[in-house]
Amino acid sequence: MDVFDAIYNRHSQGKVKQDEVPRELLEKLLSAAVQAPNHYKVRPWRFVVLTGNARNKLGDVFAASQLDRKPDLPPEASDKIRSSPLRAPVVIAVGVDKPSEEKVREIENICAVAAACQNLLLAAQAEGLAVKWRTGEWARDAKIKEYLGFSADQHILAYLYIGYPKFIAEHEPRPSFNDRTVWME
Ligand SMILES: Cc1cc2nc3c(=O)[nH]c(=O)nc-3n(C[C@H](O)[C@H](O)[C@H](O)COP(=O)(O)O)c2cc1C
Repeated sequence: MDVFDAIYNRHSQGKVKQDEVPRELLEKLLSAAVQAPNHYKVRPWRFVVLTGNARNKLGDVFAASQLDRKPDLPPEASDKIRSSPLRAPVVIAVGVDKPSEEKVREIENICAVAAACQNLLLAAQAEGLAVKWRTGEWARDAKIKEYLGFSADQHILAYLYIGYPKFIAEHEPRPSFNDRTVWME
């Protein structure tokens, strides 16, 4: 697929089939992700790939974290949160390494990991997969980070929900760059 086709046709798509995504294909997406630029070549990305029952366990951790924040949460709301990672057959949590040297800036690590996420999204588009990039409280909660192997001060940039699309939705063209751009000569 032409890169411009992937860019223009990519849209967030949360409605996906539960069909398994082959491991080799996931590895292809992750390999595309890590082609992203990263200052000082620190490779600041961390991926936790959750499939199968790991999504149930993540849902339990999500629900527990929400109950910590909102002890009066009704059981139905808790159940909805618990089942949220099951919305796609694959969920990839994407974390950012803290800089280990003074010259390395956290903001630049974050930029590199965001670029890696976009690479993954475009590669998924080229492979006929749909992805929804999600964050929310689940990306900020220290206990969830710990469960996924991150430290409390590490950023989770994304939960990438990946699967084969249930349908291809129509989308309006996105706004132009014009009102966001100045040209200086
Ligand atoms: C850093 C980041 C966090 C996001 N978090 C969420 C989220 O928590 N929930 C959600 O529905 N979409 C989330 N999105 C997806 C955006 O809402 C989506 O990309 C935007 O609506 C544009 O739609 P498009 O991806 O189809 O162009 C996030 C996107 C980014 C880049």
